[in-house]
Amino acid sequence: MPSSHTKRGPTKRRPTTEASTYKNYVNGQWVDSSTGETFPVYDPSTEQIIAHVAAANSADVDRAVTAARAAFDSGPWPQTTAQDRGRILFKLADKIRQNAAMLAELESRNTGKPIVEAEFDIADVATCFEYYGGLANKVTGNVLPVPANALSFTLREPVGVAGQIIPWNYPLLMAAWKVAPAVAAGCTCVLKPAEQTPLTALRLAGWLDEVGFPPGVVNVINGLGETTGAALVAHPAVDKIAFTGSAAVGKLIVKSAADTLKRVSLELGGKSPNIFFADADWEAAVDGALFGIFINQGEVCSAGSRILVERSIYSKFVEAMTEKAKRIKLGPPLGRDTKMGPLVSKAQYERVGSYIEIGKKEAKVAAGGGRAQQFSKGYYMQPTIFYDVQNSARIAREEIFGPVASVIPFDGEQEAIRIANDTPYGLAAAVWTRDIFKAFRVVKSFRAGVIWVNHMQPTYIEAPWGGYKQSGFGRELGPWGLEEYLETKQVFVNLDETPIGWY
Ligand code: NAI
Ligand code: MG
Repeated sequence: MPSSHTKRGPTKRRPTTEASTYKNYVNGQWVDSSTGETFPVYDPSTEQIIAHVAAANSADVDRAVTAARAAFDSGPWPQTTAQDRGRILFKLADKIRQNAAMLAELESRNTGKPIVEAEFDIADVATCFEYYGGLANKVTGNVLPVPANALSFTLREPVGVAGQIIPWNYPLLMAAWKVAPAVAAGCTCVLKPAEQTPLTALRLAGWLDEVGFPPGVVNVINGLGETTGAALVAHPAVDKIAFTGSAAVGKLIVKSAADTLKRVSLELGGKSPNIFFADADWEAAVDGALFGIFINQGEVCSAGSRILVERSIYSKFVEAMTEKAKRIKLGPPLGRDTKMGPLVSKAQYERVGSYIEIGKKEAKVAAGGGRAQQFSKGYYMQPTIFYDVQNSARIAREEIFGPVASVIPFDGEQEAIRIANDTPYGLAAAVWTRDIFKAFRVVKSFRAGVIWVNHMQPTYIEAPWGGYKQSGFGRELGPWGLEEYLETKQVFVNLDETPIGWY
C-alpha cells in the first residue's frame, strides 16, 4: 500500500503536508528510491501537490527488471497454468470494480478529467482485465502439413520481460491495456506510469499480492521519462517495450531499443480527420464534431482534431459548432455536470496555449482562443475552434493534444480523401454520411488503423487499436493485443525411424 496515506479533505493545511507519499512496487515490496529522491504529483485544478512519489533511478530500474527477469525465468510463474493466470486477472478485475468509485475519484483529481469520464475509464479497466483473463487459456498453436513423415507444430510462448511506458491521459486504462495481455500471455512486467499521473497504477499495485501475483511478476516504477523510462528501454534484460505517448519519444525508443534488438510496439497519437459530408444527420454531426475533439479536454490520441466539412454546409456547420461549444460546461473535475476539466499539467497547458497563439496567425478563431478566465487557478483552457484552416498549417499538422479544433472546408469526396490522408499520422479517422456507398469508399481509402462511420471515439476492448504511418506499429486490444506478447516456436518431430542416409 502507499505509505503514510492521509485522507485529503477541504483543509487549510499546506499542500505539501497533506500530500501522500508513494513508493515503487518491486518484487512484491514497496521500496524507496535508492537515493531517497521523490518527485511531486499535482492536482491540475488547484495546482497543488497531492502526492510525492519515489523516483526510480537506473539502479532502481535494474532492481525491478532483475525481479521481473527472475520471476519469468524461475519461481512459480512459469509453472502457473494459463487457467490460473486468467483467474488472477479476474480477481484483479473484481478488486477494481469494488474500488471503482475511489479509483475514478483519484484519476479525476490527478488528471483533471471529468469524474463521469473517469468512471467510464475505470469500468473499462475492469473489462480489460476480464477480457484478457478469459483469453489466457485460449492461446493455441497450429499443426502444419509439412511434406515429411513428421509432426510439425507451433507453440505460443511469452516474449519474456515487458517494459511498459504509458501516458497521462488515460492512466489506469493504459496500464490495463498493457499489463492485462502481458500477464495473460505469461510475461512479467515492469510498468512505468507517466510522471504526471502515477497514483491509480500504484493503487492497483497494492492489490497484486492479494489477488495472487507472485512477487516480481508485475512491478511498478516511477520517474521521469528521460531517466527512468530511458533506463527501462536500454536495459538488456528487457525483451519487449510497449509504449504509448508522443511520436518524438517513440522515435527515441526505437533507436535505443535497437542496441539490444528488443521487440517494440508503439501507439503515438495523431492528427485524425473527422469528415462531414453534406448529407450527414445534422444534429448528430455537430455533436460528433465536438465530441471528437473536446472529450477528455482533447487529450486523446485519436482526437478528431481536423474537422473536414463539405463546402455546401461549411458556414452553417462552423456556426452550429461554435454555438454549442460556447455552452460546454467547464468546471472542477469532480463536478458531476462538468464536461471539460483543466489540462493535465502546467507544461501541457503552456504547450496547448502556444499552439493557440500559432493558430491565431494561421487561421480564424470561431470559439475560445485561450485560458478559461472564470477560474483563478487550474490549467483550464477554453474549447477552441479555428476555421478556414489550411491543411498545411502547423495547427493542422502537429498533434496539439488539447481542446483545439481545426476546421477545414472541402469540395467533394476525392478532395476529402486527399486532405484526410495528407498527414504524417494514421491512427484514426471518422466519416459522417448517410450514403453507404460513399461511406465505404472513404473507409477503404483512409490510411489509418481505426475508422468510425457516423461516430467518433467509441473504443472497445474486443477490437484492435493502433496506427498506420507515424502513429506507430503493433496493435493493442482484442486477440491482437495478446499477440504483441507472444513468441512463436516451431517444433519438428521426426517420425521416420531410419537414418537420414546422407553420409
Ligand atoms: P511523452 O511522450 O514525453 O510521455 C509519455 C510517456 O513516455 C511518459 O511515461 C514519459 O515519462 C515517457 N517518456 C518520456 N521521454 C522518454 C524517454 N526518453 N524514454 C522513455 N520514456 C520516456 O509525452 P509528454 O511529454 O507528456 O506530452 C507531449 C506530447 O506528446 C503531447 O502534447 C501529445 O502530443 C503527445 N502525447 C501523446 C499521447 C498519446 O496517447 N498518443 C499521450 C501523451 C502525450
Ligand atoms: Mg515528453
